[in-house]
Amino acid sequence: MKPQPQLAEMIKGQVFDGYLLTRAAQQRTSSNGSKYLDMTLCDISGEVNAKMWDGSTPPPNTADVLRVRGLMTEYNGKPQLRVDKMRKAAETDDFDMGALAPCAPKPANEMLNFILERVNAFEDAELKALVLARLEECGDKLNYYPAASKLHHAERSGLLHHTSTMLEMAGYVCRVYPTLDGDLLAAGVILHDLCKITEMEADEIGMVSDYTAEGMLIGHLVQGVSELSRCGRELGVSHETLMLLEHMILAHHDLPEYGSPKPPMFPEAEVLHILDLMDARMFEMNRALATIKPGGFTERIWSLERKLYKRKK
Ligand SMILES: [Fe+2]
Ligand SMILES: [Fe+2]
Repeated sequence: MKPQPQLAEMIKGQVFDGYLLTRAAQQRTSSNGSKYLDMTLCDISGEVNAKMWDGSTPPPNTADVLRVRGLMTEYNGKPQLRVDKMRKAAETDDFDMGALAPCAPKPANEMLNFILERVNAFEDAELKALVLARLEECGDKLNYYPAASKLHHAERSGLLHHTSTMLEMAGYVCRVYPTLDGDLLAAGVILHDLCKITEMEADEIGMVSDYTAEGMLIGHLVQGVSELSRCGRELGVSHETLMLLEHMILAHHDLPEYGSPKPPMFPEAEVLHILDLMDARMFEMNRALATIKPGGFTERIWSLERKLYKRKK
């Protein structure tokens, strides 16, 4: 694999020759009537406005990976890429998606299959039907949605990454504490953040552009409860099962200042909250330490309210 040039390191006058991701692209008409492409292209280091003055090339779609050759120029003091040649990357092209955007470490279908296999093994038929119906309702968005805009699992397929990691941990915890209802805990894990899909606006790259109005006004906990109770009533799920799951979603942030009006009030709800916190913290710690030299400290991380130390071995 050829080393990928980093956009952030490119300076005026250099030729960029490598792969970039499409964040946005439109065909526009210039003042002299000729057509051109106006694009925002990115890699993991940043993004750049790109222009292609050849009017015959159709605009790529958001999340398309492009093989691009062009000259770094400047317009109004900002870097601009003048694209000379561009084509959509083929499946046989040799590029690293992880160099273009933050991505979950496993393919989406592998993580989704792991989740579906667990649900299909549920003993309780109504629990199985309910979780499968909610997953189905999320559709294709489940494949690429991140779990956050900036914090933990802000990456392509981050929601599946977060959910499948917690589901794996839930299996271990249930072996240590056999009084836990493993199917109920697994259902809570899978359902707890599903409404991140309605809380945030994200593109197929997994980048969040904004929170939705529902996300700002209601949030994924209460949205999650209302979607679940609607779906549960449609399927005729028993009152007790629905109430337990609603509580697990509502209580998974533990404290009112983090959005939960009730603390976790039974063991499966408590374990769900702890697994959620553990997975979020491990992700953020690993990400912050990735660029630190052994024996060094990070800057203060506001979400964790501390600095972190990178151990020497
Ligand atoms: Fe959450
Ligand atoms: Fe979560």
